[in-house]
Amino acid sequence: MTISLQSVSRVFADSESGTEMVALQDIDLAIADNEFCALLGPSGCGKTTILNLVAGFDMPSSGRILVDGRPVMAPGPDRGVIFQSLSLFPWLSALDNLLFGPRVRGLDLKAERHRAQELIRMVGLEGFQHHLPHELSGGMQQRVAIARVLMNEPSVLLADEPFAALDEYTRRAMQEEFSRIWQRTRATVVFVTHNIEEAIFLADRIVVMGRKPGRIKAVLTIDMPRPRSRTSERVMELTRQALDLIQPEVAI
Ligand SMILES: Nc1ncnc2c1ncn2[C@@H]1O[C@H](COP(=O)(O)OP(=O)(O)OP(=O)(O)O)[C@@H](O)[C@H]1O
Ligand SMILES: [Mg+2]
Repeated sequence: MTISLQSVSRVFADSESGTEMVALQDIDLAIADNEFCALLGPSGCGKTTILNLVAGFDMPSSGRILVDGRPVMAPGPDRGVIFQSLSLFPWLSALDNLLFGPRVRGLDLKAERHRAQELIRMVGLEGFQHHLPHELSGGMQQRVAIARVLMNEPSVLLADEPFAALDEYTRRAMQEEFSRIWQRTRATVVFVTHNIEEAIFLADRIVVMGRKPGRIKAVLTIDMPRPRSRTSERVMELTRQALDLIQPEVAI
């Protein structure tokens, strides 16, 4: 599915001061079907706001957002959202977390159980399907959360710093896993991160944003085949480019 943001602005009113806060100003962005697009930028530049708009959790103040050519009016099963914080049901096993949605929707649980087991294998959690979330590491929990979103077979995956809470090593392993999963499912991905290395490792294009007001500063195309190196000359060059774009935006 394609995603298109056309002159999108989002203004928040501060009820206390009576002032307006321009979180996003005139965002134009076209994301192709099956593209992996990363949103990179300093805190407060509007990354989460964009994700919320595409997810249908929020509406733009002006402009429009189309998914597969149709205006976004509400959240829908075509768009799966992965959050930073773990959002599993703590009293359900990994497998039952995956089956929660299908159960609520009254689907044939026998077939769904089979799919859930396949997804659990795909995210590398075979043998852990009967564990409760607290019996799993943070990385494993996040893999369950990703598998749970994939149960709905969304055409669009919206991820908001999904690996930010993980340690460096787990994070890298998860990036590799996520890249593999994306190459298999070929969903259109919008992936928010603060992490330049992560964006370069994963994305087809990186949208670099600036703040006050939130806007697009530049779009970098990552023209490297997968699986990717993390240390090549080209990676260093792209890292430098991204840093040069972001550093002036950082307020200290
Ligand atoms: N519901 C809201 N009401 C008022 N202001 C908001 C609301 N949501 C976001 N904002 C403001 O809009 C701006 C952009 O916020 P947003 O959360 O999209 O940034 P971000 O890029 O995701 O930041 P971070 O990297 O810290 O997650 C911020 O200044 C924020 O305070
Ligand atoms: Mg955010």
